[in-house]
Amino acid sequence: MRKDLIQIDDLTRADIERILERAESFAEVSGREIKKVPTLRGRTVVNLFYESSTRTSSSFELAAKRLSADVVSIKSAGSAVDKGESLKDTVQTLSAYDPAAIVIRSPYAGAAGLVARWSSAAVVNAGDGKHEHPTQALLDVYTLRRRLGALEGVKVWIVGDVLHSRVARSGIHAFARMGCEVTVCGPPTLIPREVEALGCGVRWSLEGIGDADVVYALRMQNERMAGAFVPSLREYAERYQIDGRRLRPNQLLMHPGPVNRGVELSGEVVDSPQALIVEQVGSGVVVRMAVLYELLAGGGPGRGAGQFGPEPVRATEPQPA
Ligand code: NCD
Repeated sequence: MRKDLIQIDDLTRADIERILERAESFAEVSGREIKKVPTLRGRTVVNLFYESSTRTSSSFELAAKRLSADVVSIKSAGSAVDKGESLKDTVQTLSAYDPAAIVIRSPYAGAAGLVARWSSAAVVNAGDGKHEHPTQALLDVYTLRRRLGALEGVKVWIVGDVLHSRVARSGIHAFARMGCEVTVCGPPTLIPREVEALGCGVRWSLEGIGDADVVYALRMQNERMAGAFVPSLREYAERYQIDGRRLRPNQLLMHPGPVNRGVELSGEVVDSPQALIVEQVGSGVVVRMAVLYELLAGGGPGRGAGQFGPEPVRATEPQPA
């Protein structure tokens, strides 16, 4: 593993497999009454969120706490960022605490990569503009593999606003790396040009979606749309909404959240047993624990190797909190 996790391309398939296995062992820890291991005791993790987040910020915070790290979580609202402090100055300021890891979410593509250059801490990209969201893709792969076993040859359709979606960009890479056949689908205005080069098929309509084993719906990213990309949300929903008519009983449904009910998904499919949406959220904690473990204690080039690693966490031995 490299020092940082900025994009899925930073990971080999073997890295991904190792993270998934580690996450499995943390899932066992999460099933106990005391859900903590001492792996990162005495080390500091800074969560820096410059964009709204419910799932990603709470699961990164829980992940670091369950590894016994000291955690500082900063949201742009209410911090000195509100007073005009630059990203570089903020990172320099936080470096005074000598963090082992910085987790950053930013509306700007490339922000996490910059922080990785400015800081000697391990940097984890928690979503940078429309670039990438690698831990989301890892938790999606983990969730799907838990449900289906091997992913080789599994057909995944990613439907919706692919153009503005960092989840789609990371997901295409991660699913493909695990052997899935990925197709992206949406209105031509919301599909990036030459997206095929990422290793996926492209469809402009839902015709043929019956072939998919997994339908992965995306939120319409209104906050990233400068112009009108669809005539109206009603017309978008008519052509692309996944509802009870379009989802076959043997297909699985995924979505990174937050869902706009009645836009990309109908309420009935969100609440159906085919939906893995809540499982995805639960997977977020153990997969982010595994990522922090790999970067900080996994025996790779990241600092701290050897302190508790490279041995796997002994999930069967109760650990003091
Ligand atoms: C996504 C994000 O913020 O990139 N949500 C998430 O992290 N679970 C997707 C979205 O906002 O639509």
